[in-house]
Amino acid sequence: MKRLETVNFSKSNQDALIIMLKRALADEYLAVFQYLAPIKLMNGFKIDETTSEFKEHASEEYDHAQWLRDRIIELGGTPLFNPADWTVWTNDGFKEPFSMNTKSLLTQNIESEQGAQKVYLKIAQFAKDIDDQITYDLAIKIYQDEVKHEKDLSEINEQVEDRSFEEFEL
Ligand SMILES: [Fe+2]
Ligand SMILES: [Fe+2]
Repeated sequence: MKRLETVNFSKSNQDALIIMLKRALADEYLAVFQYLAPIKLMNGFKIDETTSEFKEHASEEYDHAQWLRDRIIELGGTPLFNPADWTVWTNDGFKEPFSMNTKSLLTQNIESEQGAQKVYLKIAQFAKDIDDQITYDLAIKIYQDEVKHEKDLSEINEQVEDRSFEEFEL
């Protein structure tokens, strides 16, 4: 990756970009938890296809967080070290499961994936405007993952029955 000393951003553009990346980083940390939080319960009810997809997504959201953290450091910024900051910096917030059934969990996460796509398109556009090819490529790479996440969840949502966890026997 191109190091900071080889980049010719103005200070204000650099600061603005770091803020956008830190906000996306908060989203990714929260996304990891949003996928992992219901899994324990869902595993108990053996909703295997959905849980395995959630686990895979959680792992990929964590990768996104790592990549963003590294780019923030390269740009001279300080990543978010305190989980208390995640809910302060997030673009899209944390969607606490409001109903323990398969379709509501899938729908919540589909909406979050759509929100993430908008965030990364915005970052890509900003990076393009200031001629930061590295951040542009990173934003597009993550955007493509978020599109795939939405598609995967939507396909499962079409296939699964809408079942409340209370309907299952432990
Ligand atoms: Fe992500
Ligand atoms: Fe995602």
